[in-house]
Amino acid sequence: MGIAEDALVFTDPRAYADEPRFHAACRRLRAEAPVVRVDAPNYDPFYAVTRHEDVMEVECHPERWINAPRPALGPRRGDAVDPADVPVRTLVQMDGPDHLMYRHVSADWFKPRNISRLADRAAELSKRSVDHMAALGGRCDFFAEVAMNYPLAMILSLLGLPEDDFPRMLKLTQELFGNADPDMAREGADNAFLETMMDFFAYFQGVVDDRQANPVDDLASRIANAEVDGAPIGLMETIGYYVIIATAGHDTTSAAIAGGMHALLQHPEQLARLQADPGLVPTAVDEMIRWVSPVKQFMRTATEDTVLHDVPIAAGEAVLLSFPSANRDDAVFTDPDTFDVGRTPNRHLGFGFGAHYCLGTHLAKLEMKALYNELIPRLVSIESDGDAEYVRTLFVGGPKRVPVRYELV
Ligand code: HEM
Repeated sequence: MGIAEDALVFTDPRAYADEPRFHAACRRLRAEAPVVRVDAPNYDPFYAVTRHEDVMEVECHPERWINAPRPALGPRRGDAVDPADVPVRTLVQMDGPDHLMYRHVSADWFKPRNISRLADRAAELSKRSVDHMAALGGRCDFFAEVAMNYPLAMILSLLGLPEDDFPRMLKLTQELFGNADPDMAREGADNAFLETMMDFFAYFQGVVDDRQANPVDDLASRIANAEVDGAPIGLMETIGYYVIIATAGHDTTSAAIAGGMHALLQHPEQLARLQADPGLVPTAVDEMIRWVSPVKQFMRTATEDTVLHDVPIAAGEAVLLSFPSANRDDAVFTDPDTFDVGRTPNRHLGFGFGAHYCLGTHLAKLEMKALYNELIPRLVSIESDGDAEYVRTLFVGGPKRVPVRYELV
C-alpha cells in the first residue's frame, strides 16, 4: 500500500472501525511521511500530522495554529448544512483571548479539588453499573449495559439534569458523534446534523431559563449566569457550552471504558496483573486512554506561512492532529503496540495538549478509576463472548459492541 492510500484512513470512517488497518497505515506514515497532504474526494485538502513531536509543536503554538474556522474534520457538505453555519459556538471553535475568557467560566469546576467532590457519586454509579452487570447473569454487551450509560449519568448529574432526560440526551450525543455509522445516524434525515442541533437547542433553552430564574449550586447555573467581559454571555454561547460538556463528556469516556475492557480481554495477562494488584488501576486507566484514543482528531489552521517537519504550509491551510497515531509513536513510547497496565511514564496525547487541553481530564479519569475499582475486585472471571465491533467515525469513537461472559461476586 502506498503513502497516498495510507493517508486516506483519515477520511474513511471505516478505517477507525478497523484498528489494525488504521494503526498499520499510521506506522508507515510516521516513518515515511509524518506530515502528509491529504486530497480526498469530498474533503477540502489538509495535512495529517502523525508524530507525537509534531502534534506537540502545533499544540504548543496556538497563535500560529488556530481552531477557527475548521476545528475538526468533516466532509465538504455541498448543499447540506455546514456545522459552521449553525450559530451555536463552543469552546473548540474559539481562539485567543475569546477562548480563554469562555474557558474561564467553567475551568474552576473542572479542577481536581472540585471534581473530587464527585467521587462518592462516581462510586455509587459504578456500583449500580456493576450490580446491573451481575443481575444480567453472566453474559452481556459490556458497551451497551455498562460503558454507554454510566458516563452519561455522571455528566448529567454534574450539569444537574434529571435522570428522566437521560435517554433523550443519549440519543442526541450518539447522533452527533456517531453520525458516520449507519447504526447510530438519525434515519432518513438529509439535514441530520441541523436537526440534532435544534433538538439540543430546544432542550437546553429550557435549562437556561430555569437556571436563570432559580440558580442553584450546579454547573448549569454557573454557565447560565456567566459573565464574560462584564456582560452576560450570549444565548448561543451558553447553549454551546452545555452542548460541548454534554457531548464531549459522554461518548469519549464511554469509548475509553469499553475500549479499555476490550484491551483487557485481548491481553488476559494484563487483566490478571490488574486483578492481582488493583493498585494499578490509575496507570491502567491512562493506558486505556492511550490505547483507545477516543478522540481521533482535531484540526488547526495556520495563521501564517510556516514549515512543519520540513513541509511548507501556507497561511489558511489546515492540519489534522492524529491523537491515536501520536499515541503509538515509538519515539516516545517503549513498545507502543503493547498494552501495559503499569506503563509509567505515559505521555499520551489522548486529552490533547495546550490551550484546548481537555477540560474534563480529571473527571474522565475519576469516572474510569471508580468503575474499574468497583469491577476488578468483583471479577472472578471475564472473557470475550464474540467479536467486538468498533464504530465508524471521523471524530470520536471506540467499540459499539463488546460481548462478554463473566462471573462476578
Ligand atoms: C476519556 C475521555 C476523554 C477524552 C479522551 C477527551 C479528549 C479531548 C481532546 C483530545 C480534546 C481536545 C484537546 C486539544 O485540542 O488539544 C478535548 C477537549 C475538551 N474536552 Fe475532553 N475528553 C474526554 C472527556 C471529557 C469530559 C468528561 C469532559 C467534560 C465533562 C470533557 C470536556 C472537554 C471540553 C469542554 C473540551 C474543549 C476544551 C477547549 O477547547 O478549551 N472531555 N477532550
